[in-house]
Amino acid sequence: MELRYLTPDDLDDVLDVRRRSFGPMPAADVERWRDLVTPILPEGRYLGAFDGARLAATARLRPFSQWWYGRPQSMAGVAGVTVNPEDRGRGVGSLIMRAIIDRAVELGDAVSALFPATTPIYRSLGFEHAGAQHTVTVPAEALRTIRPAGQVKLRRMGPDDAAEVMAILDRVHRAARASGPISANEAGWRWWLDEPDDFLYLADDGYVIYRWSGHDIEVDNLVAASEETAKALWSMVGSSSSIADSVTANLAPDDPVLWLLRERSKEQVRQTRWMFRVLDVPEAVARRGYPAGVTLDAAVEVADPVRESNAATWRLEVSGGTGAAIRSLDQGPRLTINGFSALYAGIPTATLRLAGLMSGDTRHDEALDTAFAARPYMLDYF
Ligand SMILES: CC(C)(COP(=O)(O)OP(=O)(O)OC[C@H]1O[C@@H](n2cnc3c(N)ncnc32)[C@H](O)[C@@H]1OP(=O)(O)O)[C@@H](O)C(=O)NCCC(=O)NCCS
Repeated sequence: MELRYLTPDDLDDVLDVRRRSFGPMPAADVERWRDLVTPILPEGRYLGAFDGARLAATARLRPFSQWWYGRPQSMAGVAGVTVNPEDRGRGVGSLIMRAIIDRAVELGDAVSALFPATTPIYRSLGFEHAGAQHTVTVPAEALRTIRPAGQVKLRRMGPDDAAEVMAILDRVHRAARASGPISANEAGWRWWLDEPDDFLYLADDGYVIYRWSGHDIEVDNLVAASEETAKALWSMVGSSSSIADSVTANLAPDDPVLWLLRERSKEQVRQTRWMFRVLDVPEAVARRGYPAGVTLDAAVEVADPVRESNAATWRLEVSGGTGAAIRSLDQGPRLTINGFSALYAGIPTATLRLAGLMSGDTRHDEALDTAFAARPYMLDYF
């Protein structure tokens, strides 16, 4: 197999592998898909594995920001992992995934995430279960009890509002000390805000993206920095309740709307799980946020057969809301890179030990849990 970056001339073949992997793409979506992937081709973000001239497998890297304890960093979003049916089970998926991990590091990312259709291949390459997209469904009527408060002006928005949306997300996720949520870059947002069937509204400190889906309403994002704006946006969505049966929304697990509702007895939550990997231990530790009042000084020994530069004993130092990982000769607990990635994402050391991802010295477990505490989620599927 030969690996190379895909070009616009490869896209018909990519669609063929994709169709054989994920099922047919409706004709109306094909052009939107081309618009999404074409800009990343010259950046070397779409890889193909070729058997001679024949495309056998693909994987691509989406350029995202991800907040960890309120601090954003660039994140490699792995998507479009497909292997032709006739080439599966022969290590081609693993080959292209290793290449995509190396490419993400070359592009400067210290962390990566993906929504797995299957766990073992990603786990064997260092990704571990970390968080979920929480999709909550409530009867549309339930939103009727949220009344607008104050004089919040809402206006329709479009692609030219991409920068504004990004600024609001940054403000909200920093203030909430959020872990896990992502943002597209400006080109990605422009693409998204150009979806003809979506309803898009912007306030000074919030926005909503929603649409009809049969007799129901789907809310992709509803993000607000103030109580007034949250109420204004949710009551607008709730105004569909004369027609809509239910409202389904991607929410943070502790999204304020769940506390604005008068009744929660009919709420249903679906979780779509994502996996996470630290690609570069010292960079990832330095780019994360931490609770301001917490100090940590602990050595951990990390094993990483895929990215050898991570395989070392690292002294983790956290204070004043920032962290550092420095190579050390000290002794400490042992973690696989999967275990270290899960720890970084807030999975408790007790879980890691019982799951076989961490062993040895227990002295610093509580301090590690406190420094890396997080309830990671994402609003967006990719
Ligand atoms: C999932 C997929 C990418 C794997 O590619 P592949 O070339 O078959 O993978 P590999 O041969 O490198 O296998 C790697 C490991 O994953 C395991 N694996 C692969 N597909 C699996 C599946 N569907 N379920 C469970 N395990 C699977 C293999 O058994 C192997 O583990 P092992 O070494 O312990 O035996 C491929 O089957 C595919 O394209 N599937 C359809 C589309 C899809 O699901 N894409 C993933 C989207 S996130």
